[in-house]
Amino acid sequence: MTSPRRLLIHDLRQLVTHRRQDALLRGPALGDVEVVTRAFVLCEDGGIAAFGPMRDLPSLDGDVEELDGSGRCAIPGLIDCHTHAAFAGDRVAEFSLRASGASYEELHARGGGILSTVRATRAAGADALTEAVRSHRNWMLHAGTTTFEAKSGYGLDRETELASLRAIRGGGGIPTWLGAHAVPPEFADADAYLDFALAEVLPEAAKIAEAADVFLERGAFDADQARRYLVACRGAGLALRLHADQFTEAGAVPLAIELGARSVDHLEATSAAGVRALAGSDVTGVVLPASALFLDRPMPPARELVDAGAAVALATDFNPGSAFCESLPLVCSLAATQLKLSPAEALGACTVNAAHVVGRGGRKGRIATGYDADLVLLDVPDWRYLAYHLGGDLGVEPIVGGRRALP
Ligand code: NIG
Ligand code: FE
Repeated sequence: MTSPRRLLIHDLRQLVTHRRQDALLRGPALGDVEVVTRAFVLCEDGGIAAFGPMRDLPSLDGDVEELDGSGRCAIPGLIDCHTHAAFAGDRVAEFSLRASGASYEELHARGGGILSTVRATRAAGADALTEAVRSHRNWMLHAGTTTFEAKSGYGLDRETELASLRAIRGGGGIPTWLGAHAVPPEFADADAYLDFALAEVLPEAAKIAEAADVFLERGAFDADQARRYLVACRGAGLALRLHADQFTEAGAVPLAIELGARSVDHLEATSAAGVRALAGSDVTGVVLPASALFLDRPMPPARELVDAGAAVALATDFNPGSAFCESLPLVCSLAATQLKLSPAEALGACTVNAAHVVGRGGRKGRIATGYDADLVLLDVPDWRYLAYHLGGDLGVEPIVGGRRALP
C-alpha cells in the first residue's frame, strides 16, 4: 500500500475560513468567519485531512512535507467565478480613447469593443489561444486564484468557440459557453446568428462546457432571444448564467429566476424590485466591481442584496475591454470600499458562494476537512489585509490540491 501524499503547513499566524455550512451563504452567514490563531493545516492526497490550533496537531508518522507558515495567514483558495480569459490581443488603444471620453457602448456600436477582440481571437489560432489562457491563468494564480471559470464568446464561429472552450479546459479552467455574446458581422441579425449557433455549435460546445451564458443587453441579445438560447442550452445539459442589467434592466433577472439559472452577473443597473426578486430566489447575484470601476459605471447594489437575503458572489470579470484586472484581492478592496461589504463578506463571496456558482459547492471554498486542499498563504500580519492593502503585495503563495502551485 502506498502512503498518502501529505503536506503540513504549521505555525500559521492566522487561519480564516467560513464556518461549516455547505449551502450558499446568505445574510449574516456571509460574514461569519472563524479565525484560528497559531494554526496548522494538514493536506492529504489533495484534500484537507485536519486543521486547527497547533496544540491540537496530531503526531504524524511517515513522510510529511512541511511548510513553515510562521508570520503568515491562510485563507481558502480564491475562486474567480466570472472571467473572459480566452482572448487574443488587447484593447489598449480603445482604453486610451475611453480615457478621453468615448463610451464603451459607442465603441461597441461602431464595430469596436467586443467585436475587435473577436477579430483578434479568430486570427490567433488554437495554439495561441491555449497559450493565452495559460498565461492569464498564471496571472490569476499569482493573485491567489486557485479555481477559475472562463467563458468563450470571442470566437462566435464554430471553430474558434470550440477552440476557446478546449483552451480553457486545457488550461485548468471551468469552461462556460458564451455563445451569445455579440452578433458577428457575417450575420444579418441576432436571430440568424442564434439559428447558426444553436444548430452548429451547441452540440459540440455542450460536450466541453459546464454552463452557458448570454449578454442580455440593448445592442446585444434581447429577452426573447436570450430565452431561446438558454432553453436550448439547458436542454443540452448546461447550467445557465446571464450577463444581466449591466447598462439597462431588460428582463434578465425575471428570466433567470424563471429558468432556474445559477447566476445573474453585473447588476449595475438593477432596481430595488430586482434586488427583492433575487433575494426571494435561488439565483446568485455575481457582482463585478472592477468592471464598474474600469467603465466608470455605478457600482452594483451588493449591500442591498446581502441585506435582503440574496446570495452574492464576487468576481473579476477579467477581459480585455471592460475589466483588464485578474486580481480578486483588488476586487475585495473594491467590495470593502465601494460596495460596503466587510472583508469577511468579501471573502465569503469569492470563496464559498463563488464555488456554488461554478458547481463546486461543498467541495471548494472553505478550509474544512474533506474539502479540496486549495489554500492561499498571505505574508501579512492580519488576513484582512486581503481587502485592506489596496493593490499591495500580499506575498501570495497558492496551494492547489495540497501542492505548492508556484515554483
Ligand atoms: O462582462 N458585457 C459583456 N461582456 C464583457 C465585456 C467584454 C468585452 O468588452 O470584451 C463583460 O463586461
Ligand atoms: Fe463578463
